[in-house]
Amino acid sequence: MCGIVGYVGQRKAVDVLIPGLQRLEYRGYDSAGIALQVEKGIEIKKSEGRLENVERLLNGSAESLQKSHTGMGHTRWATHGKPTTQNAHPHKTGHVVLVHNGIIENYLDLKRDILTRGHKPVSETDSELFGYLVLDEMDKGANLAEAVRKSFVGLHGQCSMVVMSEKEPGVIIGVRNGSPLVAAVDPQGGAIIASDAQAAISYTKDIFFLDHGEMVIATNKGLVFEDLKTGKTVKREPVKLDWSVDKMNKGGFPHYMLKEIHEQPVVLVDTLNALLDRNKHTPFPLSDQPAVRLLENARQLIFVACGTSWHAASIGKYWIESLAKIPVSVELASEFRYRDAVLPSGTVVIGVSQSGETADTLAVLRDLKTKKIPTIGICNVRGSSISREADAVFYTSAGPEIGVAATKTFSSQLLVIYLIAGYMAHKSRATSDTTLAKCFEDLVKVPHILSDMLEPDSSMVRQVTGAVDSVKDAKGFFFIGRGTSFPMALEGALKLKEISYDYAEGYAAGELKHGPIAMIDLGMVVVVLAPKDLWRDKTVSNLEEVKARGATILGIGDTEDHDLKTLCDLWVGLPKEGRALEKGLLPFLLSPIVQLLSYHRAVYRGTDVDKPRNLAKSVTVE
Ligand code: AGP
Repeated sequence: MCGIVGYVGQRKAVDVLIPGLQRLEYRGYDSAGIALQVEKGIEIKKSEGRLENVERLLNGSAESLQKSHTGMGHTRWATHGKPTTQNAHPHKTGHVVLVHNGIIENYLDLKRDILTRGHKPVSETDSELFGYLVLDEMDKGANLAEAVRKSFVGLHGQCSMVVMSEKEPGVIIGVRNGSPLVAAVDPQGGAIIASDAQAAISYTKDIFFLDHGEMVIATNKGLVFEDLKTGKTVKREPVKLDWSVDKMNKGGFPHYMLKEIHEQPVVLVDTLNALLDRNKHTPFPLSDQPAVRLLENARQLIFVACGTSWHAASIGKYWIESLAKIPVSVELASEFRYRDAVLPSGTVVIGVSQSGETADTLAVLRDLKTKKIPTIGICNVRGSSISREADAVFYTSAGPEIGVAATKTFSSQLLVIYLIAGYMAHKSRATSDTTLAKCFEDLVKVPHILSDMLEPDSSMVRQVTGAVDSVKDAKGFFFIGRGTSFPMALEGALKLKEISYDYAEGYAAGELKHGPIAMIDLGMVVVVLAPKDLWRDKTVSNLEEVKARGATILGIGDTEDHDLKTLCDLWVGLPKEGRALEKGLLPFLLSPIVQLLSYHRAVYRGTDVDKPRNLAKSVTVE
């Protein structure tokens, strides 16, 4: 969603704000702006479109702006009002300037009130209205911090806000009222406030994650934290992030997404190393940690997630049910949230979210906590809301993922869920230790196999790019599969629509004839995921139906599956080393194939691969 960066200190503010906003571009946005404090007040430069437009405005502006040491910036993802320059942030109301992320739900009431007071908002946003509240409070005599605090009373909805006033130069106030906000002390003096740690990580690894209902006052002297309601000072400790700045650069790849696809072998090893205790002599030696202890008493698991994280959990359901014989359901957080779900005792709920901030997933976990249901998060971001609010967390060690399309976080989520399956299977004795030991041994081989698969000139890479070249004129894509390849088919279709904007559907292969087959004709490409597993033969028989209707078939299967290959027009073979793996592990090998298919198709279509239109990396609103 919207990106926020605020800075006060010894450095030139533009040198912190622009790179900070660039680091947040991956979140998706449609307009941008910055506000800088100069001697005669606060000046704003903003524009619809890309951040470069703002940089151009700045380059042509007075030297005093370039030299300013205090300011804030924003990338906007439009909710209320079109993505125009006027609606772009920051907003200035009198001497008050603000940027905002989130939604003010009672903005219509607020607007009526503001108009009655004689103010004349110039934008269509809910955000600008808040500025008038602060202005009026300051006019009544409050200082900036008090005015912001008072203005939050009666405000509905989740948001974060950063506010400055010309009357209090050198002060920046940040408020977290639901949507994420972090702060950091600049080692050179001063402080940074941002919607995401990535904007501050170049200066320090010690990041303060504000709690819901907290306010931070940043000045040249550093940071003071206060409770939003009472104004009382709150003592906060920073979280040390282990993210390296290198992981936030493209590292020679043309896009972050491609780099992140290639990072998968390494992040899988990192995730394994972080979660295992190799001194243990059990088949799945998960180190002793709170999340593991919660699993021990689980008699039923419910996963809640959205998008790609939901796909990872859906694959995990097959693993856990087959290895641990424990009932598992996988729920879309946005649906589960408003359902009267029946939760028998022994239920443990696992929220899967790479960002740890997805509003619906977070809301479910919060709600279940009040009902005393144990909750676990699977998150990639330390200090994120889900990681702090769930009873316990399994972290994926994927490092920062900048491309909007989830790739390396997806495979590391798969890894964590596979570990959960193996661990629970060992505890429940539902699968023999000999089988589990083989599963684990093979799991450890996966990163090595992936590493070979992803070599620049590997046969997989050549086959994928060749296939993309051959279907340039495709009018749409169907991804089909059975078993674990069904959620993988959903993921393949999601990746493709997300970044190449192609018409794409994922289907359980057996469902095709119940409707969607009517769509299949010349010009459609059917991507069939049929590795040699339990479900391969059934999937292949569904394929015959498709072939008869003239679609182009792109098969993904065992490299020596000649029968399947003969049925297909185009072919991507899984590596030979994959043949000896436990069949359950095949999704790990399918995943980079569907990711690369969508990547190369998007490059061919000329889309903005890392920042696809209308999307945001972390979805902090419902
Ligand atoms: C994945 O490519 C998408 N960008 C999206 O579906 C994402 O997985 C979803 O929004 C959930 O995000 P989360 O993992 O941060 O909760």
